[in-house]
Amino acid sequence: MLSISIFTALLVGIISTSCSASRPILQSVLNAHAPEHGPLTPALAAPCDGYGFPHVTCMHRYGSVINGDFERKVLMPYEDTYPATTVLSDPSFHNVANSSFLVYDEAQGRKILGSSPVVDFMFRIPNVTHEAPVYVPDTNELYFSRLTHGFLPQLVVNLSVTPPTLSERLADPPIYAPAGARYKDGSIIYATIGGHHSLEGHSFHPGLYALDVASGKSRVLLNNYYGYYFNSVDDLDIDAKGQIWFTDNDYGRPDGVNTQPPQINVGTYRFDPHTGQVALVEDTLSQPNGVAFSPDQRTLYLTDTGAGEVIISPHVSPPPPRWNSTKPRTVYAYDVSPSGKQLLNKRPIHYAMEFVPDGIKVSREGYVLTATGYGIDVLTPDGTPIVRVLTNFTVVNIAWVGRGEGGATGELWAVGKMGVARVRWGLKGPVVD
Ligand SMILES: *[C@@H]1O[C@H](CO)[C@@H](O)[C@H](O)[C@H]1NC(C)=O
Ligand SMILES: *[C@@H]1O[C@H](CO)[C@@H](O)[C@H](O)[C@H]1NC(C)=O
Ligand SMILES: *[C@@H]1O[C@H](CO)[C@@H](O)[C@H](O)[C@H]1NC(C)=O
Ligand SMILES: *[C@@H]1O[C@H](CO)[C@@H](O)[C@H](O)[C@H]1NC(C)=O
Ligand SMILES: *[C@@H]1O[C@H](CO)[C@@H](O)[C@H](O)[C@H]1NC(C)=O
Repeated sequence: MLSISIFTALLVGIISTSCSASRPILQSVLNAHAPEHGPLTPALAAPCDGYGFPHVTCMHRYGSVINGDFERKVLMPYEDTYPATTVLSDPSFHNVANSSFLVYDEAQGRKILGSSPVVDFMFRIPNVTHEAPVYVPDTNELYFSRLTHGFLPQLVVNLSVTPPTLSERLADPPIYAPAGARYKDGSIIYATIGGHHSLEGHSFHPGLYALDVASGKSRVLLNNYYGYYFNSVDDLDIDAKGQIWFTDNDYGRPDGVNTQPPQINVGTYRFDPHTGQVALVEDTLSQPNGVAFSPDQRTLYLTDTGAGEVIISPHVSPPPPRWNSTKPRTVYAYDVSPSGKQLLNKRPIHYAMEFVPDGIKVSREGYVLTATGYGIDVLTPDGTPIVRVLTNFTVVNIAWVGRGEGGATGELWAVGKMGVARVRWGLKGPVVD
């Protein structure tokens, strides 16, 4: 979870055209505008066979050559987007701003997109960070959270009605500022960044909490490290043995939801709910954030959102995180050791195309999906980009939703600042127990 002030004037999203101009025709038109670069230079952005354009746009060779001059503005995050890049001599690039899906690998992209991919804008919500989306199969609901000072209920989408409806629900006792969530055996397991000595009669500490969805009762799983406060327990995933792997970073204080000054370093931990033991497993990331296992759980993905810089100080209200495009915004993969306790062979697999890789989730087949600014990057397990989903709001986190064929979840929902969107396509999430 990361809250850097962003807004957009871009209107990308649900625009679909039935235009099916063939690529050779389009390219010859574009080449006529850029003769100085040779007659055979293909357009950067072109139709993909079988899909409406520019709803689905095929990017030539990952956009690796931009003819003529170009510039991507990096100082403000809302300007620092790929579609906003100024590209002087290739008019096809303008289509990127009106696309919902950018395709980098047409053959694999087809499997991900299916025959009629669509991004639906579902709810307009306030211009603050929304987080911790998680699907509850028992009730066919999507829970997510709003990270503002003193806001205690969860937001709940009822998926059993068309169109789905949005309401608020308060846990007993309340859970403050969840930034990550997973569903397990009738409960939502939350990672929270909220800290406050007294809020509506309760005290709150960043940690791990469980919400029984049937009763609405919550309980604490972890709220300290040998007496120290955690900083901002931001995201988690759960392995087959039930161990909870979670990140602890610095965003709760600058986001205004943690009034407790820092006491320990940021890090990634493994918590054993059976014994209560918590162990540091990773301390090299500048702001550890998203956490997800590969389907076989032999690989753990962690994201570093250090490009959202936080001033660490004993002051209770540091300023909002500052955008610095030169700092880490990287997805790392690690091997999980045979003992199931350590992380080995750290390697970067992807540098975000936009903003920072915040939430991260894995598809049933092992594709890695990460929320990055105004969209979602879809990568192979080794980090090769196949598709980018474009949205008209900053996506903070994503969740697989619904119970499709064979129990697999077939919709991806995205929550963030000012929006909730639903992606329906060929990709499936893991099977829900
Ligand atoms: C959203 O809030 C930020 C401050 O956090 C502000 O800079 C930005 O202009 C707002 N965007 C819109 C569209 O209201
Ligand atoms: C994008 O689509 C909008 C509305 O359909 C249109 O007005 C605009 O010209 C398009 N932008 C580009 C760059 O093609
Ligand atoms: C969700 O909608 C369904 C269908 O209208 C309804 O039966 C159900 O009670 C709703 N769930 C909640 C929690 O309100
Ligand atoms: C951005 O980070 C770099 C280090 O990567 C630092 O040298 C630079 O001063 C930072 N820029 C701003 C504007 O803070
Ligand atoms: C995004 O687009 C939808 C319509 O497609 C619109 O209703 C919504 O207001 C837009 N959101 C933002 C944040 O501009």
